[in-house]
Amino acid sequence: MAFTAEKEALVVDSWNAMKADAAELGLKFFLRIFEITPSASGLFPFLRDTSVPLEKNPKLKRHAMSVFAMTCEAAVQLRKLGRVILKETTTKHLGATHAKAGITGEHFELMRYALLETIREAVPYMWSPKMRNAWAESYDQLVEAIKKEMRPVA
Ligand code: HEM
Repeated sequence: MAFTAEKEALVVDSWNAMKADAAELGLKFFLRIFEITPSASGLFPFLRDTSVPLEKNPKLKRHAMSVFAMTCEAAVQLRKLGRVILKETTTKHLGATHAKAGITGEHFELMRYALLETIREAVPYMWSPKMRNAWAESYDQLVEAIKKEMRPVA
């Protein structure tokens, strides 16, 4: 089914409403992930052996913002081009980074759930099943693009 302008707007408009509160959003997103699967925090090198509290860790916020912003960009591309085409260097780098960090399909699933729940709580007045599906579809297509570049590491 085509990714319509309506779906694109559902993602872009809610992202615009949320991003003013990026710091809190990023923290909630990760807390949700770690609440469901506490061991996931061990995947992030910058969370190991650090005395910086979670909410002050700039890398955590950066990763959260990448996921939100890239999912939003994916929505724009899906509407314009019908598929997600990231810059070659970006995709390859992301693929290699995640393969090296040992990220699996289950981790992407976990993040998908946390992403949707975080959005639902951040903009309850905008939330709808249509909005949920538009974010989910954009996220899934983005993840497919990353997974294609994830080669097993020696
Ligand atoms: C690194 C984006 C999913 C764990 C990164 C980086 C970006 C990114 C931009 C920085 C790459 C670099 O410059 O080194 C994304 C996007 C995702 C996604 C867009 C989904 C659409 C995940 C998931 C996990 C994860 C599901 C694990 C639960 C990591 C780890 C790193 C990383 C461990 C390396 C961090 C470091 O070494 O400092 N990701 N990510 N990512 N990501 Fe993701």
